[in-house]
Amino acid sequence: MSENVGDWSPEELEKNGQLLLSQLREHFSTLGNQPVTTQRSAQEIRALLDEPLPDAPQPFTEILSQTWDDVRPNLTLWNHPRFHAYFSNSSSGPAILAEMFTAALNVNVMLWDAAPAAAAVELTVLDWLAQMVGYTVAQDSVLVDGASLGTLYGLAAAREHLAGLDIRQQGLAGRDVPRLRIYTSDQTHSSIDKAAITLGIGLDNVVRIPADPDGRLDPDALRERLERDERLGYRAMAVVANVGTTSVGAIDPVEEIAEICAAHDTWLHVDAAYGGFWRLAPQVGPQLPDLSRADSLVANPHKVLMCPMEASALFCRHRDALTNTFRVVPEYLRTRHEDGSVDFMNYSLQLGRQFRALKLWWLIKSFGVSGLTDRLSAAAALAEGLRDRARSDPDWVVENDTPFPLVCLRYQPHDQELDPRDVDELNRRIHRAVNEAGGSFVSHTVVPSGYAIRVSIGNIHTTEADIHALWAELTTAARRCAVPRTREGSTR
Ligand SMILES: Cc1ncc(COP(=O)(O)O)c(C=O)c1O
Repeated sequence: MSENVGDWSPEELEKNGQLLLSQLREHFSTLGNQPVTTQRSAQEIRALLDEPLPDAPQPFTEILSQTWDDVRPNLTLWNHPRFHAYFSNSSSGPAILAEMFTAALNVNVMLWDAAPAAAAVELTVLDWLAQMVGYTVAQDSVLVDGASLGTLYGLAAAREHLAGLDIRQQGLAGRDVPRLRIYTSDQTHSSIDKAAITLGIGLDNVVRIPADPDGRLDPDALRERLERDERLGYRAMAVVANVGTTSVGAIDPVEEIAEICAAHDTWLHVDAAYGGFWRLAPQVGPQLPDLSRADSLVANPHKVLMCPMEASALFCRHRDALTNTFRVVPEYLRTRHEDGSVDFMNYSLQLGRQFRALKLWWLIKSFGVSGLTDRLSAAAALAEGLRDRARSDPDWVVENDTPFPLVCLRYQPHDQELDPRDVDELNRRIHRAVNEAGGSFVSHTVVPSGYAIRVSIGNIHTTEADIHALWAELTTAARRCAVPRTREGSTR
């Protein structure tokens, strides 16, 4: 028999683990001085990392140095203190180590018997998260990889909840089923469209109602559309309301929408993927609506709670809503039931499930709610500082009105009459220049005035000095990119 069998010995694991930890120590000590993103082309990165399938074993030291030298510098570093794109999230020490422990245990949290204490930790964590998000009415809940799947599952439960249709059993095809529709604002995340595609609802039946200028769903427009569609024979399967839209962080009037849903006997799904956990921050929490009338709700620890990627919580107000939608138990997965046991495989499409709750358990315990609150509050204060700087500069406009630390900025020189398309182009160039310089990394959106530079603040490493640096980079890039006036007085 070959000698090349078996895992690393426990001693080798410790030795290599220490090596890794000391590299991570260097990574975090120097992170702020690294470029946030790479300037290498896709072709160059592919060429760098394209190699033949290795036949012979390689020493871990070599693998680690290749990862350090070739992979790490060719990433966009989401954990970087000046990463402000998309939704700026970060991982934190306790959760990073928990991921390692999770892999070491490698339990599969599908059935209670398969991972008893892991399922118990997941239940505890879900209860804690529900408290943090202000949704203590949750009866059915589960951790999933992201809000896109959480929303798919929430909307699947909504479809199952429709009286008299029994779609789970009988399907949609070839039956006299009314045309089902989902109502939401035109600012809603594309995950709603993907859910409609997957559930057989169809994109034509996602009714996107134009939002108001601040990005909020207009309840009157929703009511009118529901009434009109009812008269035409459509059946409202769900309304999706946002707590923190992706573009500008808008908050829909959830309480009013809940009234409308009740009047139309329609499921209310709340997408609080981004906004949910900001309730902890004292500057934000009081401005958030009561969510308790939502039938289902998603909120993402991996967007806000200093938790590494893939952690999202799906909650339902109705007991068994998820299990009545997804429970299928073949013989080989039949196990004994005892009081208190939970089989998470029945709460979503996923059968094999990692012990995702551990990283949340470790980080919530390590920081405590008070520590998380302080960190989120600090991020909200940094965003307020950036807004103040922009508001006091006559050439910049803060384009969004949100309590979240999401700042949409547009450079608009106050002493020049520019065509809005020129202003769009100018902001596009500023955006590109900032990202290419490598000091900070921002993304963009389009608001009613046009192209805006979008700055999300929420990274655990970000400090006042980073926001100061970002502002200097934005204003320098704006000066450099500013459109020169031609002799005729027009711009180009
Ligand atoms: C408002 C909102 N909902 C849902 C999602 C999807 O989240 P995930 O990436 O966890 O699937 C996003 C992603 O950015 C989002 O901004």
